[in-house]
Amino acid sequence: MEAASVLLLVLTASLLCGSSHPVVLTVSPSTSQFYEGESVTLNCEDDGSAGWTLMRNTSRRTRTECEEWGDSTDSSCKIVYLMTWDSGVYWCEFGGGGASSMVVNISVSGGSVILQSPVLPVMEGHDLTLSCQSKTPPSNPSAAFYKDGSLIRTEPTGHMTLQHVSRSDEGLYKCHIRDHGESPSSWISVSGSTPPPAFDPPPTGTFKQLAFRVVRHMVVICPYCIATFLMVSFYRQNASN
Ligand SMILES: *[C@@H]1O[C@H](CO)[C@@H](O)[C@H](O)[C@H]1NC(C)=O
Ligand SMILES: *[C@@H]1O[C@H](CO)[C@@H](O)[C@H](O)[C@H]1NC(C)=O
Repeated sequence: MEAASVLLLVLTASLLCGSSHPVVLTVSPSTSQFYEGESVTLNCEDDGSAGWTLMRNTSRRTRTECEEWGDSTDSSCKIVYLMTWDSGVYWCEFGGGGASSMVVNISVSGGSVILQSPVLPVMEGHDLTLSCQSKTPPSNPSAAFYKDGSLIRTEPTGHMTLQHVSRSDEGLYKCHIRDHGESPSSWISVSGSTPPPAFDPPPTGTFKQLAFRVVRHMVVICPYCIATFLMVSFYRQNASN
């Protein structure tokens, strides 16, 4: 009985110590395409620790932080009035390049059609629903869906569901509504059955950045390890009594 409890504790502890507490980048509303003039809030969510900066690359400029293009509060960033040149990749960065989150693609349409598609990778085996929307309600919602430039389906409802997606469904999707136009293209990626780990760039950073990361990880891991050590010794003592 005791041995089992100790084993369970050790397993839990190693699981906790082994995970890297990745930051999660959330996009709200959670979609990858927007109309010009809409607003979006991006948020770097971590286990309580602040210090993440929202960064982006657009066709105009690379590596700029939220202060230069949005309203920044703590770890979130709001763009009140999206313009087409806000299209690009967005990510969270810690300690001046020490660690990064996953990257998300955001497209802003200058036209009147958007493709509502997931902003995060779709898990293998899950269903994927894409929805083609126009600014003004179309007289006929029928939409044509394209993948990598080829027509794959025309749906009278304007929604398309791919069931049990696999890697082969990965690609560049767009849609078209007659008399309204075409949406921008969005890259849809399919991930393995577990969520992808946070992206940590190779440790090419300065010593300061490296130290920052080490201290950060220690602060996160230590309470778990100390707690585990204490509980294990407590169980041992009980067992020997
Ligand atoms: C942003 O742009 C820089 C410079 O072109 C490039 O090195 C970097 O990989 C880009 N980052 C992302 C996340 O696309
Ligand atoms: C962003 O979109 C480009 C193509 O437009 C694609 O090559 C790239 O992989 C996408 N990145 C992510 C993180 O989806």
